[in-house]
Amino acid sequence: MADYDYDVLVIGAGPGGYVAAIRAAQLGLKTACAEGRATLGGTCLNVGCIPSKAMLHASEYFEAAAGGAMAAMGIKVKPELDLGAMHGQRKDAVKGLTGGIEFLFKKNKIDWLKGYARFTSADTVDVAGKSYRAKNIIIATGSSVTPLAGVEVDNDKQIIVDSTGALELAKVPGHMVVIGGGVIGLELGSVWRRLGAKVTCVEFLDQILPGMDADVRKEANKIFKKQGIEFKLKTKVTKAEVKGKKAVLTLEPAAGGAAETLEADVVLVSIGRKPNTDGLALDKAGLTTNQRGQIEIDHDFRTAVNGIWAIGDVVPGPMLAHKAEDEGIACAENIAGQTGIVNHDVIPSVVYTWPEIAGVGLTEEQAKEKGEVKVGKFPMLANSRAKTNHEPDGFVKVIADARTDRVLGVWCIASVAGTMIAQAAQAMEFGATSEDIAYTCHAHPTHSEAIKEAAMAVTGKPIHI
Ligand code: FAD
Ligand code: NAI
Repeated sequence: MADYDYDVLVIGAGPGGYVAAIRAAQLGLKTACAEGRATLGGTCLNVGCIPSKAMLHASEYFEAAAGGAMAAMGIKVKPELDLGAMHGQRKDAVKGLTGGIEFLFKKNKIDWLKGYARFTSADTVDVAGKSYRAKNIIIATGSSVTPLAGVEVDNDKQIIVDSTGALELAKVPGHMVVIGGGVIGLELGSVWRRLGAKVTCVEFLDQILPGMDADVRKEANKIFKKQGIEFKLKTKVTKAEVKGKKAVLTLEPAAGGAAETLEADVVLVSIGRKPNTDGLALDKAGLTTNQRGQIEIDHDFRTAVNGIWAIGDVVPGPMLAHKAEDEGIACAENIAGQTGIVNHDVIPSVVYTWPEIAGVGLTEEQAKEKGEVKVGKFPMLANSRAKTNHEPDGFVKVIADARTDRVLGVWCIASVAGTMIAQAAQAMEFGATSEDIAYTCHAHPTHSEAIKEAAMAVTGKPIHI
């Protein structure tokens, strides 16, 4: 250790990096974390998960009051939007949580190296002009917005924005065009639609939410349309020009054909995210990236260079905060000589719209490619709690292996699908069969009973349909 400054030096303090640093320190390793942003917490806490959920939660209340859902339950109110205060509570949430990480760093005696790290060799990095040598370096630099050719983002002008700009809009746009019908487009499009914007979503593929179960994608599209989002599927944006206070977009059919134009007050570019490796000088460490710009790792999060590890959005796999966190814990444990494992087959994903959309494991299409399956479905309309709460949209779907009955995937659209999916992930982690879920006693009346009923439907015996 004598000539090393640290046992572990983590680059990036997002949910992957800060969690890895805390676990390494808990395990008795001398730890530092380099972060160039003014606050800790990465994309997730500063401009991602947390601020978007703050706006989703607040706008959900606004719409419940303005859109008649509260009136339907006998609560008559005329809401008035105070957008400044709504942004204020978003900023408070971010401040509280990022400050919390700083507290945890101090508590665990983790040195925060303020600045962007750059490799100078395989075990040394430069941060703000100072050189640090570490036995182990974890790259956790995350991701940033994928740019779209011909559409230049300028968050300050608030006309063509990315997700960071879309969280900060000073007024509700008249017409917002969302480019990309993925998670960000639908979550942030929902925020501004609820607050009064007309929202048009332009998606290159023939359906929204790629990667999710086909039934879920179709049903979600129907629900968002019913809520008033207009979709232009199989369409690409080839150009966006700012003219005064508006943007004029040129759209073309994805397969080619006649162009049309579309005017918008705000355009949100949300066509995906790319790994952050620029500026790291990976070549100095002897590392390269794959064709998708990611750093390849093995099962233990080791890169091709001894002593360098990588986790989170910068490595292959879903770009999700909880995946990054679990990898951070497992990676630190491996460095400490323990056995840190992440089961990448059981990573839940959630879209925090209304209703929420959640899934874990294989889609029905993926499961069918692997063998014969049995599928059980249960509509939320037949779930007593959802029905009583005026939340009839959605369903739960359980996909099981036809031969062993082992659960391969669970998908839900429901007001609290993000909470419901945890039990499905846990069941799958324990190798549950659909029968195991069907014979587990679920509290009544809860939305989660729909998971039990969908599991019962796998063998054709749900009670309430
Ligand atoms: P990041 O959180 O991106 O953190 C990386 C950090 O590294 C950054 O702070 C960056 O400044 C720093 N860094 C980069 N290069 C260097 C360097 N050279 N030196 C020092 N520091 C460096 N995921 C969910 O699971 N749930 C959600 O609800 C959710 N909502 C999202 C909403 C939005 C709008 C966005 C954009 C993303 C959302 N995500 C969500 C995705 C989630 O934010 C990411 O998957 C997660 O933050 C990845 O964690 P990470 O630690 O790998 O990287
Ligand atoms: P995404 O990958 O979810 O969706 C991008 C969409 O844009 C896709 O549907 C794609 O087909 C479409 N697209 C690509 N190029 C296009 C083009 N030229 N024109 C029109 N459409 C085009 O990416 P998104 O929404 O930007 O989110 C990035 C990442 O952030 C996601 O991978 C997600 O994991 C993460 N995230 C997670 C959240 C959550 O867990 N709730 C919330 C927000 C983001």
